[in-house]
Amino acid sequence: MKAFHWILLSVFCLTTWSGCNRSVSVDKMDYGILSEADIDELIETGLKAWRIPGAIAGGAACMHCHAPDGIDLAFMNYSDFTIRRRGAEHAAPGIETLNASKLEDIVNMIRALQVKHNVNPVDPKETIPFQPGGALLKGSSNQEKDASFGIYLKESGFRFAAIPIDGDAEARLQAEELARIDLAEMLTGIELNPWSEDPYYSNSIRVLGDWLPLTPVKPTNVYIWNENQISYTANPGLQELAQLIATGTNHSFQPASVYLRELSQLKYKALLIAQHRFRNSPQKNDKIGISIGNILYELNRIDPAIGNPFWEIGQFFQRLERIELLELSENLNRRLESGDTDDLVLPWYWLGWMADPSFESTNCDASNGCLNRILEHLKKEEMHFHRLFVLAKTFTETKKIDESHHSTHLWFSNDLPVFDDSGIQELYELILNNINSIYKYGTK
Ligand code: HEC
Repeated sequence: MKAFHWILLSVFCLTTWSGCNRSVSVDKMDYGILSEADIDELIETGLKAWRIPGAIAGGAACMHCHAPDGIDLAFMNYSDFTIRRRGAEHAAPGIETLNASKLEDIVNMIRALQVKHNVNPVDPKETIPFQPGGALLKGSSNQEKDASFGIYLKESGFRFAAIPIDGDAEARLQAEELARIDLAEMLTGIELNPWSEDPYYSNSIRVLGDWLPLTPVKPTNVYIWNENQISYTANPGLQELAQLIATGTNHSFQPASVYLRELSQLKYKALLIAQHRFRNSPQKNDKIGISIGNILYELNRIDPAIGNPFWEIGQFFQRLERIELLELSENLNRRLESGDTDDLVLPWYWLGWMADPSFESTNCDASNGCLNRILEHLKKEEMHFHRLFVLAKTFTETKKIDESHHSTHLWFSNDLPVFDDSGIQELYELILNNINSIYKYGTK
């Protein structure tokens, strides 16, 4: 098993909000000396530009694809150059349109938002939003990443990865231990999605998997939509957010292939939740923030139709048979290497599960429908330890596991994976047996 130690030691640092702190210093300091009134004015002026219909997609404004006030671009510290470069695609000549000087208003607004919200901006090239634990377990293949995860469980000192259950008391201890685990802090071998994967620099299929919609979310009743965006920006509460999500979901919008439209709409829903979390994430000296899981739960209490968009994006990619169905622009199509949309499924499933490990807010067509789906997918990707862990954690989070699946051995019958390393094999079987016992004792 020693062979795997290097993997653990070389855990790869991606920096998220909480993880290893490699945040970047920005020009924001210059804006920090401005008065509060000046900062507010810069934001006010920038917001006007942010909401002006641009030159593409029948007049899409920045706010039709990004956060209602651009807070995403304030958290992900895109450079002034990048903001101008991306903004330029939307600019057109004329005074009443989104022109070069209005793009400067947007740049100023983003910097002012960083001051106003005391943002600790992160480097967008190094940061994967919500990557659990802020880092990725290393490995050159899925099998290696999965074995890293197994070893990580053991080396983290979890009882369920070290002590065989010999009775009720130990089973209870292990169940409690599982219940206490904070999924946002648990490293995994699954890399989540970047905020933006710009086709200008990348020809990876991840361009389709990133958070930003490729086509604007602009409902036919754009007046109400814009008003709701404005009212959320003025008062960014959960009620306003739920309202916004409902408006964006219930109306049809801009032309595009039905598939691309669906994907964009799902992404925008997910983005709205994420940007709410950015807004309420730990600030400089404050470690407390609300998790996306909390936000999702609260939103579904307000409006159960909101569901779990992270999960639904995974489902979308699983359903999508061919990229051609998206009818992407020629320009983008040419740049994309042929890639497998299947690779985009697991990161979104993992995030959807992390945000809702009991699948309470997720629409699962059948009893255990979602659990089965993620377990099957993990199996297909040969992520066996991850698979065990998902099952174990979901057990402790839910009371809705179907009767017929009471025994872990039933879930895993006839498919005991074979590992090259006998230590890894033993570890797997130990955890499997423990989960089985936890469930057996736990349901007595
Ligand atoms: C039609 C939807 C849409 C609109 C409208 C839009 N964006 Fe974007 N934006 C995206 C997408 C999608 C990405 C992610 C990269 C990609 O796939 O092209 C992105 C990425 C970005 C990035 C990050 C680029 C990088 O290097 O990763 C910036 C900055 C940005 N947009 C700024 C703006 C500004 C400013 C506006 C308004 C002037 C705007 N965007 C309007 C869809 C949009």
